[in-house]
Amino acid sequence: MNPTPSRSSPRRPPAALLVLLLLLVPLHACDREPTADPAGVPYLDASRPVPERVADLMGRMTLDEKLGQMAMVERRALGGRERGDVGALGIGAVLSGGGSAPEPNTAEAWADMYDEFQEAALEGRLRIPVLYGVDAVHGHNNVHGATIFPHNIGLGATRDPELLRRIGEATAREMAGTGVDWTFAPCLCVARDERWGRTYESFGEDPEIAASLATVVTGLQGREIGGGPASVLATAKHFLGDGGTTGGVDQGDAEASDAELRRVHLPPFVEAVRRDVGAVMVSYSSWNGAKLHGHRRLITDVLKGELGFRGIVVSDWGGIDQIDGAEHFSAADVRAAVNAGIDMVMVPMAYADFIDKLRAEVESGAVPVERIDDAVRRILTRKFQLGLFERPLADRSLTAAVGSPEHRDLAREAVRRSLVLLRNDGVLPLARSGRIFVAGRHADDVGLQSGGWTMTWQGEAGRVTPGTTILEGIRAAAPGAAVTYARDGRGAAGHDVAVVMVGEEPYAEYAGDRRDALELAPADLAVLREVRAAGVPTVVVLVSGRPLVVTEPMEEWSALVAAWLPGSEGAGVADVLFGDHPPTGRLPVSWPRRAAQLPLNVGDADYDPLFPYGFGLTYP
Ligand code: BGC
Ligand code: BGC
Repeated sequence: MNPTPSRSSPRRPPAALLVLLLLLVPLHACDREPTADPAGVPYLDASRPVPERVADLMGRMTLDEKLGQMAMVERRALGGRERGDVGALGIGAVLSGGGSAPEPNTAEAWADMYDEFQEAALEGRLRIPVLYGVDAVHGHNNVHGATIFPHNIGLGATRDPELLRRIGEATAREMAGTGVDWTFAPCLCVARDERWGRTYESFGEDPEIAASLATVVTGLQGREIGGGPASVLATAKHFLGDGGTTGGVDQGDAEASDAELRRVHLPPFVEAVRRDVGAVMVSYSSWNGAKLHGHRRLITDVLKGELGFRGIVVSDWGGIDQIDGAEHFSAADVRAAVNAGIDMVMVPMAYADFIDKLRAEVESGAVPVERIDDAVRRILTRKFQLGLFERPLADRSLTAAVGSPEHRDLAREAVRRSLVLLRNDGVLPLARSGRIFVAGRHADDVGLQSGGWTMTWQGEAGRVTPGTTILEGIRAAAPGAAVTYARDGRGAAGHDVAVVMVGEEPYAEYAGDRRDALELAPADLAVLREVRAAGVPTVVVLVSGRPLVVTEPMEEWSALVAAWLPGSEGAGVADVLFGDHPPTGRLPVSWPRRAAQLPLNVGDADYDPLFPYGFGLTYP
């Protein structure tokens, strides 16, 4: 096989060869991008316009090669001998599900793995590179050592579109350093009921926030797709109404009029499409009882037609399986999904079966060939735009960007901007001297402060990845103070102030759904009681993916800060506690008095929250 150039830097020939080349070719030709095509094949010629390259390539493809492009396959299904199928079947995309990582989980190993898949793809008859997708939903969060940014709910509190653009840019650099060229982010869901387990993936309950923070799409992709070495495809998800399901049930049913769906859930997608978002992922949920994965009106008429979306509509993980209700995907599922307008199917495992079923549907005429061509055109267009044919391999010059000090600084800035000060009797900002008591299990735990979608799908407690805990941040900010930490809250007596970190344990998707209780855990309440009994003024820092019901216990606290799920840079919390930066975050959601009030959203008729949407104190 020919040597394959990397994503941004064309592979350099040995020096002697270079000298020879210099003698042979006119000078101006030396610094030109090498085209992958010396033989004049139009689709391999980077100087031609993308539509022309797409048309040329499609003219050479068999039906089977087209169907292969429509499959997105989990890496674990292509682990052994199946690897060869990537080229042989012309698989369109590979993904890592949440926590699906190479061994060892290092940025270098990711880049090596990516290159192996890419090389397998380039063995195919037409040498079509694969797209590699991950859920980089708060930084490149499957990669050990990557910068972990706050989850979206915290970023929603910043109300800062430019910050989001910069976070997108940093995330894209970390991704590009591992080769990965597609993220299933941002979630532009508008969470209307905090009992939903994906509330923290939402920028907030009002569509204005997600629409204005769609700048992250531009950060990820660059001003145009492929416009720089670190341009990755973004995905607006989940289309449509995932945050509006009855009872906040994940994958549930959004019972809403057409007008409400358009008013509450559509605006962020309009904005993402305006920014030429690379892909849109369909929601597992239903709208008035009809599964989105088979919803031709919303996908084809509204998204592709009315909104003019030009990119890839991708299904969610096994999402097409649910259309007919029976387990696994049936021929009917495949037909309904593709005819509804889905271009790429996240199978994620049984790709050969998917291709077989889709072929049968096309051959019987149940799925029109034009529909297949539309899907493949969209997929190939994104690949050409990204520059994948010219630079298919990982850009090793960016691998050091993974978890770099600059990116961690940016994440720390994001953390301090995301904090919302909800109550303060004057105890904050803290003095840097005296005796500070720190308590609670969330004080010293990178895993708890990062939440779900961190190294694993569900997330977990512990030192899951390098970072700074909130306690470490406090110690570093106040070297002159005596800081004591007791996880269980015992021994607070005699201290000037207590800072207690409590909140939720990590979860993702439906595992985070709650029916009624959004109260603090009994263990956390016990810690708080312990500290209160010592008579020390208490600052509570809530580490959670959503508002928790604190109406009664709060009466005993001197201050309350919502820190959301800050990610790997806990020092950003100390930046605000000690007043180096004033709190500026504003609530992206209404804070309920009691769970029975939910759903509770700004604009409701009998709106009576504990803290209203947009609320946030600062220091005098
Ligand atoms: C994967 C996730 C995926 C989930 C779907 C998990 O096994 O790791 O990425 O979202 O399954 O249920
Ligand atoms: C989630 C998506 C995610 C996909 C791939 C699904 O379970 O709903 O948000 O992108 O898995 O991990």
